[in-house]
Amino acid sequence: MRVTIFGTGYVGLVTGTCLADVGHDVVCVDIDQAKVEGLNRGVIPIYEPGLESMVKANHASGRLHFTTDAAGAIAHGDLIFIAVGTPPDEDGSADLKYVLAVAQTIGRHIERPVVVVNKSTVPVGTADKVQATIAAELAARGAQVAFDIASNPEFLKEGDAVNDCMRPDRIVIGAANPLAVEKLKRLYAPFNRNHERIVVMDVRSAELTKYAANAMLATKISFMNEIANIAEKVGADIEMVRQGIGSDPRIGWHFIYPGAGYGGSCFPKDVQALARTAQQNGYEARLLDAVESVNDSQKGHLFELIQRHYGGDVRGKTFAVWGLAFKPNTDDMREASSRRLLAQLWEAGAKVRAYDPEASEEAQRIFGERDDLVLCDSARAALADADALVVVTEWKQFRSPDFVRVRQALADAVIFDGRNLYHPDEVEAADLAYYGIGRGRSIHIDA
Ligand code: UDX
Repeated sequence: MRVTIFGTGYVGLVTGTCLADVGHDVVCVDIDQAKVEGLNRGVIPIYEPGLESMVKANHASGRLHFTTDAAGAIAHGDLIFIAVGTPPDEDGSADLKYVLAVAQTIGRHIERPVVVVNKSTVPVGTADKVQATIAAELAARGAQVAFDIASNPEFLKEGDAVNDCMRPDRIVIGAANPLAVEKLKRLYAPFNRNHERIVVMDVRSAELTKYAANAMLATKISFMNEIANIAEKVGADIEMVRQGIGSDPRIGWHFIYPGAGYGGSCFPKDVQALARTAQQNGYEARLLDAVESVNDSQKGHLFELIQRHYGGDVRGKTFAVWGLAFKPNTDDMREASSRRLLAQLWEAGAKVRAYDPEASEEAQRIFGERDDLVLCDSARAALADADALVVVTEWKQFRSPDFVRVRQALADAVIFDGRNLYHPDEVEAADLAYYGIGRGRSIHIDA
């Protein structure tokens, strides 16, 4: 089928590439000329495992095109996806200016019936706004073209995006017109083998489904972080508690890892946006507010542990920081816990030697040149001349370091493990002090 996708960010680029890979004829449009030129030369603007080779192969086969020509792209597609960003507004609600600008462009150029599909994460009711915007543009030019609006939220995870897109758990289609549903079903047929993954519903329910999924996952994390904080106070080990509850299938093993707080482009933004939507509709979302507030304090928890160890004075200390990205397998540092930690360390007069397998360039871009930051080429290089080690992102390669070597490198012989990667016994056996998240067994705090 002929598909047009507005936006070549994570969602747009991955979706476009996967659709091309199963045989559809895809045109991706972006207003960023440099990005489009780069993509046409095989330069992928994001780090995402498996994506680069797939973009190149599909581009070479002629099924995947990149352009800035919106009118031409609109003429191409029977299905037109909107997959542009929805950054948070000042009050936490999603800013729809990019989505509605695309709707305007579509209204200005469509000449034949199309299905406009919202893939961006947008507040409930956005489909109606997109519909009204397109209709207004059509009216302004005195044109009469039939079009449908559908909501088809994306559930891909950064770092595993291609896999999520090629093997989705479910495909949510929200549309009023059965013909639009049929078109989308046909589009996704190659992803819907072996068992039924497509869930058809009304547009508003589809829009809310996306927020509900992310808010539920964020809630699990904040819940575990809260229990971790209690564990710390009462002298229990959250890792034992995690194992004690995860085996209950009603709770499950996924997303119950305590840590330095969730980050990324979705959870923080979506939890706030959903709370805001609720408020605008006359409902105070107390649970969502709490999820967000627990996460916010959790991002400062590593620093609290550090302060506690150093009696409140880290001036002149150098911290090796392993991991800057908001999670492994990405170079994305949006809302990353590392940013809070670094800011707090700097504010307190400490220095940082950081290593991340992928996010160094991004860190350089965000922080620029500073006397109190050295971006290192390896985990071991970050340890050189450092007083203490702080682990912020759970990259695989940080999982089993040689603790004797780490001990030799660190002047103050202490590890702050923001993702509970290590067992306290193992670290302490190497004569290192250990702080984890919610590991009250190691760091019992008297009330
Ligand atoms: C998320 C959703 O998983 C995805 O379905 C949606 O489409 C977009 O938002 P993503 O932002 O890529 O995806 O990251 P995810 O893997 O979900 O992790 C989010 C954050 O939660 C990370 O900072 C991670 O470190 C943290 N996390 C995750 C925990 O702290 N504990 C956990 O148990 C799981």
